[in-house]
Amino acid sequence: MKINKIYAVYWSASGNTKKIAEKVAEGFAAITGCPKETIDFTLPAAREKNYEFKEGDLVVFGTPTYAGKTPNKVLPYLKSGFVGGGALAVPVVTFGNRSFDNSLAELAAVLEADGFHTIAGGAFACRHAFSDKLADGRPSAEDLAECELLAEKAYNKIKDLDVAPEPIKVDGDADAPYYVPKGTDGQPAKFLKATVRTDEEICSGCGDCVELCPMGSIDPMDVTKHIGPCIKCQACVRGCPTGAKYFDDAAFISHVAMLEMNFTDRKENTLFV
Ligand SMILES: Cc1cc2nc3c(=O)[nH]c(=O)nc-3n(C[C@H](O)[C@H](O)[C@H](O)COP(=O)(O)O)c2cc1C
Repeated sequence: MKINKIYAVYWSASGNTKKIAEKVAEGFAAITGCPKETIDFTLPAAREKNYEFKEGDLVVFGTPTYAGKTPNKVLPYLKSGFVGGGALAVPVVTFGNRSFDNSLAELAAVLEADGFHTIAGGAFACRHAFSDKLADGRPSAEDLAECELLAEKAYNKIKDLDVAPEPIKVDGDADAPYYVPKGTDGQPAKFLKATVRTDEEICSGCGDCVELCPMGSIDPMDVTKHIGPCIKCQACVRGCPTGAKYFDDAAFISHVAMLEMNFTDRKENTLFV
């Protein structure tokens, strides 16, 4: 199949999915010699428009795993913001060393419904946004080499085909419910309504958090206040230059402790070609 252009398209609050999608796309660009373009739709401004693709485009499309699926606040835009136009797509998800559960299946199904032809997919273990004790240091050099391997295998699969292959089959069920986070007591940890807090003694009021929030939820007039939902993505926590952002919600803290107790064993990446 003729490929003219490679795209890295992603939503990535704490930067892991960006690294993975970019590396897979770089792999395709190196093999094909095609130009590569990036579309980062993490921030609200990038989601004010729609993006259209066409035959001859190859789109590496990345989202993280949230509660075993694609982030629910991003899902409506995944469905409405992109026109596949017959472009080839490689869905990739990242996950924080628990499980990607159904996120890749959901992303692949949404991309097919958008009009892309999914040809391969990958799930990559990366440092958990909630804790450096889970998959710290990942994606590592080894993981990034697997990104290039995914590009190589996917390209070999389609290079001599005249028409797009059947949609890629991946593990998981696109219609499965969300994973219910547990606390250390094994009971559901209900932290949906928890919002990030600000240590006002440390906060310099620089406003970086306002710019970083993928939901545009931090009040630019008073960064301790919220004007929209907090999705617990950790973009502001990890990006605050003074370390002033934190969560003190008991259920959230208990969930993180449960993850650190049970999910530190190394998880492998899975490639579907
Ligand atoms: C709200 C939330 C829910 C998450 N749920 C899961 C999960 O169900 N399974 C898992 O292994 N990791 C989970 N993670 C970890 C992320 O999938 C992981 O850190 C991912 O690489 C973050 O991507 P990003 O750096 O591109 O934002 C979750 C992270 C957040 C913030």
